[in-house]
Amino acid sequence: MNRLIEYMLPPAKSTIAGETDALFYFINVTSFILLFGITVAIIYFAWKYKRKSEDDVTPVISHNNKLEITWSVIPLILVIIVFGWGYNTYMKKITPPSDAYEIRVVGKSWLWEFHYANGNVSVNELHVPVNRPVKLIMSSDDVIHSLYIPDFRVKMDVLPNRYTQLWFEATEVGESIIYCTEYCGTAHSNMLATTFVHTQEDFETWLETSAGDGEDMEPAERGEMLVQRNACMTCHSDDGTRLVGPTFQGAWGSDVPLESGETVVYDENYVRESILEPGAKIHEGFQNVMPSYAGTLDDRQIDAIIEYIKTLQ
Ligand code: CUA
Repeated sequence: MNRLIEYMLPPAKSTIAGETDALFYFINVTSFILLFGITVAIIYFAWKYKRKSEDDVTPVISHNNKLEITWSVIPLILVIIVFGWGYNTYMKKITPPSDAYEIRVVGKSWLWEFHYANGNVSVNELHVPVNRPVKLIMSSDDVIHSLYIPDFRVKMDVLPNRYTQLWFEATEVGESIIYCTEYCGTAHSNMLATTFVHTQEDFETWLETSAGDGEDMEPAERGEMLVQRNACMTCHSDDGTRLVGPTFQGAWGSDVPLESGETVVYDENYVRESILEPGAKIHEGFQNVMPSYAGTLDDRQIDAIIEYIKTLQ
């Protein structure tokens, strides 16, 4: 039985998950019972009332009140239960407790940015404390995305020009996957993130220590860390593989053919412009789909990324 449950649903790791699952199983089990009963009745009647001789004639049946009321009232009761139960659970899901810890979420093609109260930003990593309601205030910088955490049974669309909300309370320390569940373009299926559920203590430590963004590191090393942290690798490889965007490998110093027919040298200015204003010079054969990192990366961070790209010869 446990195997079957695991097969149907991922582990339930939030306060709302149990309630959602109970309703899910109620709908499934009732549907299965009805399907089974109706199938058996159809087969039995087909056998019982089959034509037995040439002059076998079906009697005229006008109606049967008792039977008709039964088959109307039972489904009506079931539907009312499902509606009431679903409405109640849905209201809980869309009403965050007033003391919830708030995290700002920005969806971009194709990464997730999480902004915390103390100014911390993490990309594709959502860090939250356990046993505490967390409210996500979400918006998109470009197209419609949708944030989905199966383990918590929560999902909400992330829209441009409007905020949407979602809340949950994680019940155990660990990791849970986040999917983008609205088709948003080429790298939609790579728009993944991880939820890290910490104890309250570990969460505070994380908030304090991760604020450092490698200012004390060697520039190239810092650049590599920033490239990973900002999910650049979703679209740019470091080994020559062609992804959504051009590879970093061997790019430095090369002549870049542009969509406009011109050529530009892959230097400091080209990299800087491409990070801040990605649509300005599009590499031939690639699409204009990269989000701008203006306001996300400062000049020293861009310097570090340039140093990192230089090492990929
Ligand atoms: Cu973002 Cu799919």
